[in-house]
Amino acid sequence: MPARRRAEPRARRVLLGVTGGIAAYKTLELVRRFRGAGWEVQVVMTDHARKLVGSQTFASLSGRPVAHELFPRRRPNADKESIAHIELARWADLVLVAPATANIIGKLASGIADDLLSTVLLAVPGALRARGRVIIAPAMNTRMWQHPSVRANLDRLKEQGCAVVGPDPGELACGESGPGRLAAADDIFAACRAALVEDRPLPDLAGVRALVTAGRTEEPLDPVRVITNRSSGRMGIAIARQLRLCGADTRLVCGALSEPLPAGIPVTTATAAEAMKDAVLAALPATDLLVMCAAVADYRPARAGRAKSHAARLSLELERTPDILKAVSRSEHRAVVVGFSHDPSVAAARRKLKEKRLDLVVANPYETAGSGAIRPVLVSRSGPSRRLAEMPKEDFARVLAAECGRLLAERRK
Ligand SMILES: Cc1cc2nc3c(=O)[nH]c(=O)nc-3n(C[C@H](O)[C@H](O)[C@H](O)COP(=O)(O)O)c2cc1C
Repeated sequence: MPARRRAEPRARRVLLGVTGGIAAYKTLELVRRFRGAGWEVQVVMTDHARKLVGSQTFASLSGRPVAHELFPRRRPNADKESIAHIELARWADLVLVAPATANIIGKLASGIADDLLSTVLLAVPGALRARGRVIIAPAMNTRMWQHPSVRANLDRLKEQGCAVVGPDPGELACGESGPGRLAAADDIFAACRAALVEDRPLPDLAGVRALVTAGRTEEPLDPVRVITNRSSGRMGIAIARQLRLCGADTRLVCGALSEPLPAGIPVTTATAAEAMKDAVLAALPATDLLVMCAAVADYRPARAGRAKSHAARLSLELERTPDILKAVSRSEHRAVVVGFSHDPSVAAARRKLKEKRLDLVVANPYETAGSGAIRPVLVSRSGPSRRLAEMPKEDFARVLAAECGRLLAERRK
């Protein structure tokens, strides 16, 4: 009997939007990289981009005619150039806009569709955003980049799940120096590859009530000073954002933060450990998934001063703050509980898992607190521990969402 031939997996498809920034020529290098990785590339250029770089070079490098007209003169499907905007949006496995002008960022954030690229971007399925597969690489003059309208538009796109790469600081084409340069081709390519190749299916968490704690607690020493730690809140916020993108009804309990709060997620502020414990326990009966990511200060002053002390020497007596995970483990609830630990030892994580009746511990070295990356080890009751490579916290939020989906499904069995 002849051996059955296995069907070749089809090539990944990248829709590359090029807009009218001076860095448009740099995107040619990305087309070369994408093709080198074996991916198909369909370039869509705006009219202003075509004034800065010839579309013929993009067509030659991508091996496909560049699309730019919303109403092409030729009949639809007469050739690849005339694929309708909806078909283009459906065709893509990943959408990258590089360089992204202030203009296209504003249009996408406001839902304006007045040319082919902006129309395609609005027609992109929401599932692509939820999987981190709509990537924006802004590039513009520093003052444009710092304009509150541009920042607000970009925040809005992030809320919707778009990933943003760059811009980098440095010398700009206008002769000024500052943030605004298109991110390096290596970084943009790595972000695309991470989203496309290292992608894992995300769970549908519709109907799941998720509660995430984020940030650091501050334990008062007196009315002005506090004892705290270096946690920024970035990990917890990324997790809350990702769970919401997966459809979970998500709430945050936040201590102090160095990151802006995401729009659209209800937040309870609980600055000290005691208040955080109360907020978590109050929400627990209506929670299906609890992710305890906040860095609770382990100690607090036994007595907080009523006034700011000016003594030459000050001795402090510290006491332990309440153990929120322990309090959760002693409460009646049905939630899947994920704890974070700043001790990278698997044995310590296993102890914590058992003692505090957790479903999963994310162990990561304390050096990652306040940084943009995490070096996690996942320790769960079911199965061996998994040590993952260092990755941006936003990428880990996707890994964790998948893991939570698995744990919730196991719980339902
Ligand atoms: C030479 C030149 C360079 C430009 N570079 C940029 C840029 O780097 N970033 C940006 O946001 N706008 C830049 N602009 C302005 C945009 O081209 C302009 O806002 C245009 O409306 C963008 O249209 P588009 O987003 O449809 O391509 C530049 C304009 C010119 C004339």
